[in-house]
Amino acid sequence: MSGMWVANGLSQDLPLGVVMAGAWQGAELAIWRSASGRLSAWNDRCPHRGMRLSHGFVRGETLSCIYHGWAYGTDGACSKIPAHPAMVPPAAIKAEVYQCVEAEGVIWVAPAGSDVDLPDLSGLAAVRSVTVQAGLAEVAHALPGFVCEGAVWRGQLDGAAVALVVQDRGALVRIHALGTGDRVKVSRWLDGMMRLAEQGVLA
Ligand code: FES
Repeated sequence: MSGMWVANGLSQDLPLGVVMAGAWQGAELAIWRSASGRLSAWNDRCPHRGMRLSHGFVRGETLSCIYHGWAYGTDGACSKIPAHPAMVPPAAIKAEVYQCVEAEGVIWVAPAGSDVDLPDLSGLAAVRSVTVQAGLAEVAHALPGFVCEGAVWRGQLDGAAVALVVQDRGALVRIHALGTGDRVKVSRWLDGMMRLAEQGVLA
């Protein structure tokens, strides 16, 4: 089965025991890291009554829903229903699980069973994620000299390689930046690029 990988953030921004909201194309996701470091990405809907799991909380190796406290293990299966503490939850109560991996400091998500390769970002170090209040066209316009390879824009800054992993969220674009050069320099350059793209929206 094919289904492209979508970058959803940098590893450095998702510490142990934290859940965050993410997306795979139009699907909203809850992406979380267990206490032991295991990363999971699920459809952002609790199988009970549909509360966002990204509003929940991590305890050890489980993610609990904020509404009625149903807890789900890293395989997505419900492991505990607080209102019925003696009950073993039926196996059918399970979050919809996506594939979720980390490579070169980037968190990637794809539907279960996807067999597409990840982009090659070897040799690059994660710098910073930014949210640009603009569309992909304005972002592309603010990146002269950069070459688009699928979800990755590659270019140079003062002779050092820069790769921008782009996550298209419709009215805005998330950019996860990596590079081989000075992180502060890349970060400042990102600020300028964002301004340029956002001005393009206003022009
Ligand atoms: S909606 Fe999640 S536990 Fe009830």
